[in-house]
Amino acid sequence: MKIGVFDSGLGGLWVLKNIREMLPLYDYVFFADQAYVPYGNKTKEELFDRATKIFKHLYEIENCKIIVIACNTNSTSIFEELKLWVKENYPDRLIVGIVLPTILNIKSLIENNNIKDVVFFGTHRTVNSHVYKTELENLDSINVSEIEMSLLASLIEEGKPTLEYIKSFSELDKNKEYIGALVCTHYGIVREDFKKVFPSVKHWVYQEDILPNYLKSYLNENSNLTEVLSKDNSMKVIVSKESPVFNDFLYKWFGDDFKFSVCVL
Ligand code: DGL
Repeated sequence: MKIGVFDSGLGGLWVLKNIREMLPLYDYVFFADQAYVPYGNKTKEELFDRATKIFKHLYEIENCKIIVIACNTNSTSIFEELKLWVKENYPDRLIVGIVLPTILNIKSLIENNNIKDVVFFGTHRTVNSHVYKTELENLDSINVSEIEMSLLASLIEEGKPTLEYIKSFSELDKNKEYIGALVCTHYGIVREDFKKVFPSVKHWVYQEDILPNYLKSYLNENSNLTEVLSKDNSMKVIVSKESPVFNDFLYKWFGDDFKFSVCVL
């Protein structure tokens, strides 16, 4: 059985690149919902409809044992509903979200550094769910800000420059030191632009670093799971629609070491 990874597009692919570097042995199937990108402005109903169609495909056709949701928009808006849906329809399969590993990472940064200000950068839906902010609310004297960058995932998907757009949000207090979390997996692709624009962020949180480590420990702790996972070092990429920019990144990051297919769901 395989490991499924799912996102609207390039963000998840970027996370998968990092997962495969850390855990190269396993067989991966990545589904990029290119026909419906960007996810950031979609309703919960649309997100649930897309996710369940894709999960059904990944579980039934691609024989995935576990699906990693490399998408904050889904993980913050419909994760509990998805968990329930998987439990009811595929009781022997698993899903992993992205919020818990990110929050664990931020909490350890807060503990280890004397920083009281945390800023989250995300899509419209992620920021307006306030899930990340709520997770930190019970910590003493932590100030949380949230910055919604509703066009950034689309700029990245279109292969356009992002620096000027990110600069239009440079509203952090220059006298403070921040922990900055990129809570849209697409944003890690342009992390150098974020570093230029927000010098008062002293510690950056990148999910393409967090998720591979989390998955590694998750697999280590679940030997029953690793036993059923096949280990042929393979990767398959499925898109719901072809896009030249997506393909450029795909070949740039993975050479030609994968199978590719288009699947309209
Ligand atoms: N990469 C996804 C996320 O982390 C989705 C971005 C989008 O499609 O708007 O939220």
